[in-house]
Amino acid sequence: MKARRAVDEATERLATAGCDSPRVDAEILVSHVLGLSRSELALESSRKLSRAEEKALERLVARREAREPLAYVLGEWGFRRLTLGVDRRVLVPRSETEIVVERCLARIAGLAEPRVLDVGTGSGAIALAIADEHPRAHVTAVDASAGALEVAGANALRTGLAIELREWDLYMGLPAGPWDLVVSNPPYVLPEEIETLGAEVRDWEPRAALVGVGATEAVARGALDVLRPGGALVLEVAAGSSARVSRALDVLGYVDVTSTPDLAGRDRVVEGARSS
Ligand SMILES: C[S@@+](CC[C@H](N)C(=O)[O-])C[C@H]1O[C@@H](n2cnc3c(N)ncnc32)[C@H](O)[C@@H]1O
Repeated sequence: MKARRAVDEATERLATAGCDSPRVDAEILVSHVLGLSRSELALESSRKLSRAEEKALERLVARREAREPLAYVLGEWGFRRLTLGVDRRVLVPRSETEIVVERCLARIAGLAEPRVLDVGTGSGAIALAIADEHPRAHVTAVDASAGALEVAGANALRTGLAIELREWDLYMGLPAGPWDLVVSNPPYVLPEEIETLGAEVRDWEPRAALVGVGATEAVARGALDVLRPGGALVLEVAAGSSARVSRALDVLGYVDVTSTPDLAGRDRVVEGARSS
């Protein structure tokens, strides 16, 4: 079978399965099997797939057809300058979380060797991106999930970036500082919302990474005890909840509380500083 036909057939199957962007996904899967980029695939659409390539593609398309997230099917996903390994033990890093990293980097830009704590690190995306883009930062990353910490550890090895990983439950308070920055993308989906989410999220991503009531407030309270005076807290928040989280930070005594919108214009990052 030629690559062009493989893409057409996979597109049809993924569209029938209800995937959001069936052609893009099909092109990515065929490129992956052929070891090409998507633009190279466009130039090599007449290339014939070997039997082994056809079989490998069939396995991947069947997984995506079952609405498994494309990132898990590929086994890796891009986040800022990094390519991270991902599987069912961790949340797939999202584009809005790249803005969280941007805000963190702005907060620590002037510091020679900032001490950073990432709470609920999952794949290690935020912690590793900060270590990558502020090479003198000392980054500690914690998670309650041993499986997630294994993935984050593998990603530290894969990227060659040094971070410290610790198993930790954020409801016990946060690891002793003093930290210059505490960052978290905590679980913030309400239990009653989970059934309204797409199949990829609802049926495949770890519930413990998604669903959480009060985790955001617990991080904000805990951070006050471990941030140095003037240190910053940066939080990813659910769409529609930035006003509530900003108020909570005000009430806790954080100063200079601000929000940053994602590419769709929704406020998704809330930050503030511990008063000096
Ligand atoms: C929304 S995911 C964020 C993952 C990653 N930081 C990212 O942005 O892609 C939340 C993470 O918090 C972790 N988590 C959930 N409850 C926790 C708890 N009580 N203490 C520490 N980590 C927790 C989950 O295991 C998950 O990895």
